[in-house]
Order: sequence, then C-alpha cells, then structure tokens
Amino acid sequence: PSSNSEMVSRMKALLPPSTFELLEKTGLIADKYKLNVYLIGGIVRDLLLNRQNEDIDLVVEGDGVEFAKKLASELGGEIKAHDAFGTATWTTSTSIKVDVVTCRTEYYEAPGLLPIVRASNIREDLRRRDFTINTMALRINKQYFGDILDYFQGQVDIKKKKIRILHNLSFIEDPTRIFRGVRFALRFSYQFADQTNRLAKDAAPMLKHISALRLHRELELLMAEGQLVEGMKMLDQLHVWVSLFEVKPTLKTWKHLNQMINAKLTDSFYFLTILLYGSKKWKDKLTPYALTAKQSKLVQQLVQITTIDLKDNDMLSKLHTSLFSFLDETIFLYALLDEKEYLLKYLQKRKEITLFLTGNDLIKIGMKPGPVFSTILHQLMCLQLDEHIRTKEEAINWLKNQRG
Ligand code: CTP
Repeated sequence: PSSNSEMVSRMKALLPPSTFELLEKTGLIADKYKLNVYLIGGIVRDLLLNRQNEDIDLVVEGDGVEFAKKLASELGGEIKAHDAFGTATWTTSTSIKVDVVTCRTEYYEAPGLLPIVRASNIREDLRRRDFTINTMALRINKQYFGDILDYFQGQVDIKKKKIRILHNLSFIEDPTRIFRGVRFALRFSYQFADQTNRLAKDAAPMLKHISALRLHRELELLMAEGQLVEGMKMLDQLHVWVSLFEVKPTLKTWKHLNQMINAKLTDSFYFLTILLYGSKKWKDKLTPYALTAKQSKLVQQLVQITTIDLKDNDMLSKLHTSLFSFLDETIFLYALLDEKEYLLKYLQKRKEITLFLTGNDLIKIGMKPGPVFSTILHQLMCLQLDEHIRTKEEAINWLKNQRG
C-alpha cells in the first residue's frame, strides 16, 4: 500500500472493529502525553500481507510501563507489568490483550547470554529484530495514524518473497532465528536470501547452545504450523541436523516422520527419536532431550526392545509375553524404525482387545485377590490375542477349568 489511507482501510478490513477503535483511542492518549507510539512486529507484516493477526504489540518511545498504566486508567482494564523488562500487558475491559514495550536497544556481550538492554528510539528497536519483514512499524498517533515506517526494506522483501536478516551476527546472537526463518519461509512460501542462507548454515552449530526445552518448543511450533516434515527438510539443508547431531536424514527419515504424524503421535520427542535412532551413539544423543519420565522410559525401552528375539511368524501371545510391559509408543516407534509390520499388527490388536474378565469377575467367583490375578489376566489376554477365546462365556469356562 502506498498511502496511509490505504493502510487504514486495511486495518478496518482485517482487525476487529473494537481493536481498530482501541488503536485510535490509544493514539489520542499518546498524543496527550506527547509520546510516539507504534504498532510493530507480526501484525504489521500481516496487515501488509492482507492476513489476519490479532497480536497487538505496541512500542513507545518513552516509558512503556508508564504508558500502559495511563491507558488502563483512561480506558479501563488491567495491567500486568514486568518492570525489569520495561514491558506490560494491558488487558482491556473487553478482554483485548495489548503488549506495550519501551523502545529498546539490546547488546549481546556473548552468544547465548541474555542481552544488555537500554531504552532507545523506534529505529534502534526495529534494528535488533530478526528479519526485515518483521521490522516495520505502523504509527498510531492521530496525525500519522497508519503511516508505515520501513527502515530496512521490509516491503521490498515482501515483494521479493525473501527472508532476510538485518546484520551478519543475527543468527549467532540468537540461533533460534534459524527455526523462525524456516517457519516464516514455509508459512508465506518465501525463500531465504542468499547471504541469509549462508549465514544460517554458518550459525547452525550455535544451536548446540540452546536448551532441550527450546528445541522441543521450536519443533512443536513447526508442527503447529502443519509443516513439520518440510521444516525439518529445510533445517537439514541449513546443516542444522548435521551440526547438532552429526546425522544426515534420509528418505526414510521423512517417510517415518510422516507415518508418525499420520498416527497422530505428535510429541516432538518422537521426531528427534526418528531423526537419531540407529545413528552412531543415538542413545547418548537422544537422552539429553528426554525431559519427561515417559520420554526417558521410551529411550530405555527402545534400547531394550532391540535385544529381544522377535520373529515375523511368532504367535501374538508369544509377542505379548515379551512385550506386554512396553509402552505402545515404544512398540510403534520400533516397528516403524525397524520396519516390522507384524509388530504394528500386534500393537493394533493389543489396543483393540478388551479383556472378557476383570479382577472383579475373579472375585465374584470366589477367588482371593493376589499376584495370581495378573497371571490369569495375562493368560487370558494371550488367549484372546490368538483368538482361542472369543466370548465372555468361553472365558468363564476357561477360568472354571483352570480352577478345577
Ligand atoms: N523477534 C526477534 N527474534 C526472536 C523472536 C522475536 O527479533 N528470536 C522479534 C520479531 O521481529 C517479531 C517480534 O519479535 O516480529 C515478535 O515476536 P513473535 O510474536 O514471536 O513473532 P511474530 O512475528 O509475531 O510471529 P508469529 O506470526 O509467528 O506470531
């Protein structure tokens, strides 16, 4: 859009009327206190792309927390301030959430450390951001309402469909931006600019410094975007997996990931398992990423299951006797990764079966609860799996014979 009137009509078209009005009122209050206030970040990018986005992020040249407090006192609602960061979240009386921050400059003394922060102006605030498409600001002071500030050719890159960082150390300072870039590239069908692509590859080893939780989070975001496999492929092209884990994904990796997603197993830990399983020292590489008890158990069981002698033509009861204590997920993953179709069949059947008898049925016929119950129920499961018992009646008769 070339003029601010065009921007204003876009805002009217894409934002809920109550949000639009709120921005107008906010601009008037900013005027009253002689503060420059801007809408920034994803929402500005999305307005330019004609996409909806309801994340209202405001920056103030001045004290953001103070300004947020003024907004709440004049327009109602509540403030949650994080004074240390100069940020506040204002929740209006109609439940619109607005983040208000102070324009700031951030310095990184060393990669991975938290940045040193000081108040600054809008240009400086935009300069520290990730990609040019995210560096546009839209002014909301009344006289300038709808004016776009575009210091870093964000609109040019939107036209060219490019993901471009602002300076050479961007990925080094914050290597998670590699993931963010991939997300935006896939979301909008954009390409990394050449230099950005090179610098992402160079910075890929820096991802070793991000926490396991963070890596999980980034994978989850790709998943939420509906682009997990495409995203992991792009990350591969950016040398992320070889830098992080010394692994090279293959066609099978992508196939297994798709199978996993189709089975609705979307825990990011499974994605890492698929990526790493079978590679050199896969267990050592995977273990630091097991953050829950279940994930640790999965690793342990995956190691264990490979030592069990399982055969394609084993009766289901035999498989069950070896595998009853294994998690469904372990069996599924192992079946997938080692391409053992018969284990998938076993797992399927094991999930479908409901035992014809319960502990209560055993008590009803006068048995005393104890360890023998689980033995009996295990035997019954085996018989049902092999279809030697097909009805509750057959189960009861079988039980009677056992006791007799
Ligand atoms: N940002 C950044 N570096 C990061 C994370 C965020 O520079 N590692 C900046 C970006 O400029 C971004 C803004 O902070 O526009 C807000 O971040 P976020 O809300 O995560 O991004 P959005 O661009 O709003 O993305 P999305 O549409 O996915 O919410």
